[in-house]
Amino acid sequence: MRYISVDRIKDDMILGKELVGDNCQLLLKRGAKLSEKYIDKIKDLGYIGVYIEDKVSQGIEVEDVVDEKLRNKGVLLLEKTFKEVAKDKGISDETVENINDVVNGIIDCILANKNAIVNLMDLKVYDEYTYYHSINVCVLAVIIGVALELKRENLFKLGLASIYHDIGKMFVPVKIINKPGKLTPEEFDIVKTHPRHGYEFLKNKQTIPMNSYVGVLHHHEKYDGTGYPGFVEGKRINIYGRIVSIVDAFDALTSKRPYADAIPIFEAVEYVQGNGGVAFDPELINIFLRKIAHYPVGTTVSLSDNTSAIVMENYEDCPLRPKVKVYKEFFKEIEPYEVDLKTDEAFRNVTIINK
Ligand SMILES: [Fe+2]
Repeated sequence: MRYISVDRIKDDMILGKELVGDNCQLLLKRGAKLSEKYIDKIKDLGYIGVYIEDKVSQGIEVEDVVDEKLRNKGVLLLEKTFKEVAKDKGISDETVENINDVVNGIIDCILANKNAIVNLMDLKVYDEYTYYHSINVCVLAVIIGVALELKRENLFKLGLASIYHDIGKMFVPVKIINKPGKLTPEEFDIVKTHPRHGYEFLKNKQTIPMNSYVGVLHHHEKYDGTGYPGFVEGKRINIYGRIVSIVDAFDALTSKRPYADAIPIFEAVEYVQGNGGVAFDPELINIFLRKIAHYPVGTTVSLSDNTSAIVMENYEDCPLRPKVKVYKEFFKEIEPYEVDLKTDEAFRNVTIINK
């Protein structure tokens, strides 16, 4: 299967992964043939891309980072929770329990695939920002936690800090949070109160561990001390806060938001790397960047020898040189052949062109 953006979907293409609708109900099964009616529906729902099956992508499988059903369950639950908090400024014990279950489910999935390199496109097919973002941040944070070999109980605390990191935004006027343009300095000052609101809110909930709500308080602190609320810097920033700040920025940059378009993963990688020691903890960045695919499996890349290829496999020790299947030369389809950019001597001078 391979990933294509919505504007490239055509009649009769075969769907590679199931699609869900607004309420996470099954919309189309894997293997469904796409018609004009379905393509319009996919666009209406805000999908930015889909996986399709075709001859050139045969044999390329994209593994789910976390079970699709669990992710959808998490998204619906977070939507309900965030709305509950916005309305009542409270949260029931039952909701807390349900969120704990989702966090534990995410940890189980990631522990079961410890050595996997994460295919971020898998987290990026849907353009509903807030709730998907919170789930993505949780998934990516736990991936760093597992790579750091944190104990299970600490993975859980990290999972809570990440899933709740923006709960304080429910205390900020919705018109400021969803404003499509640039915020005024006054509005930005109001947005900046959300880590503290989140901290205060979670602190009052007896069952949330201290390290989790301190992580929420610190998730916009910067490594060089210029972040907000602005009390700490470097390693004195709570480790969960330091992890969340990296994955929060990374997921935001690679998602379509009310005020900006998504940027490609390799550009977000560059941004995060460039901010090592400034905004982010450089050691944690190195761990994170080893665990995510810079060129995700199933995506199309252009190579410097005027060919196009689909990414087949990534290597943790060589993230810029994946194994690919070449299927076009000078924009014309050819009989596909595989090239391992990491090991094939004959392709040593061929590079992926970022554009
Ligand atoms: Fe935030």
